[in-house]
Amino acid sequence: MLYKDKVVLITGAANGLGKAASLLFAKEGATVIMVDIDSENGKKNSEDINSLGLHTHFYTCNLAIEKEIANLMATIILNHKTVDVAINNAGIGGILAPTHAYPTSEFEKIMAVNSTGVFLSMKYELEHMVTQKTGVILNVSSAAGMCGMANNVAYTASKHAVIGMTKAAALEYAKHNIRINAICPSFTMTNMVEDLFERIGEGKEILRKNIPMKRFAEANEIAEAMVWLCSEKNTFMTGTAVPIDGGFLAT
Ligand SMILES: NC(=O)c1ccc[n+]([C@@H]2O[C@H](COP(=O)([O-])OP(=O)(O)OC[C@H]3O[C@@H](n4cnc5c(N)ncnc54)[C@H](O)[C@@H]3O)[C@@H](O)[C@H]2O)c1
Repeated sequence: MLYKDKVVLITGAANGLGKAASLLFAKEGATVIMVDIDSENGKKNSEDINSLGLHTHFYTCNLAIEKEIANLMATIILNHKTVDVAINNAGIGGILAPTHAYPTSEFEKIMAVNSTGVFLSMKYELEHMVTQKTGVILNVSSAAGMCGMANNVAYTASKHAVIGMTKAAALEYAKHNIRINAICPSFTMTNMVEDLFERIGEGKEILRKNIPMKRFAEANEIAEAMVWLCSEKNTFMTGTAVPIDGGFLAT
């Protein structure tokens, strides 16, 4: 029980990585605060996990809107007293187009969720963690935060920004006993990637062949790493971006 008596906030918890992580953290004893814009799936997942005798609470929030995040954090602290661990995982993929043809509105939309959303989440999480003098934050970047993803300039930029923010904040809050890291998964079988694979057709096989382990990840494999990275077994790591990618970034 790595998270007995701990409150773990997970954004983007209605689907994919966030859903898998919510179950694993709850199994490790955490009270999991599941946050997502997708209320329908979020509520259902929370109820499913609770039916196993575990503890989660679902909150609806659009993480691209500062007022919603500010209200969300205030409500969470009122209801649950603390946030020990925050996993800023919510994100969107975006359309595929070369940079000269990339719609500016789409670029702004992706940055608003993937970058500004992480900034705002950290801002309000840290405000609280500083007062409690401890905390752990894990931001979900991507392999595309460490290398270019052709035809998705917005996603690439947004995920590079997550790593930059992680490093800057880690430097600022190390003295407050708050660890802040990022993870960089490669293609993992969730709605986001299934949607991408549908659009690229045979490109899927090329992507698979480029991964040294010759397969895509399952959400659970990323969630297991999240559980260890945020736990008290991992005490001296901060300001780091960790690939979880079947060797992709080593090529
Ligand atoms: N699946 C992959 O291959 C992969 C690889 C690298 C990084 N990632 C990152 O992992 C994270 C999770 O992605 P996933 O693959 O589970 O995708 P997903 O689409 O299955 O889940 C993303 C979740 O984020 C939520 N979300 C989106 N916009 C939101 C907003 N404005 N406010 C609140 N919630 C919002 C969605 O409703 C959804 O539940 C994302 O940040 C993604 O960029 C995914």
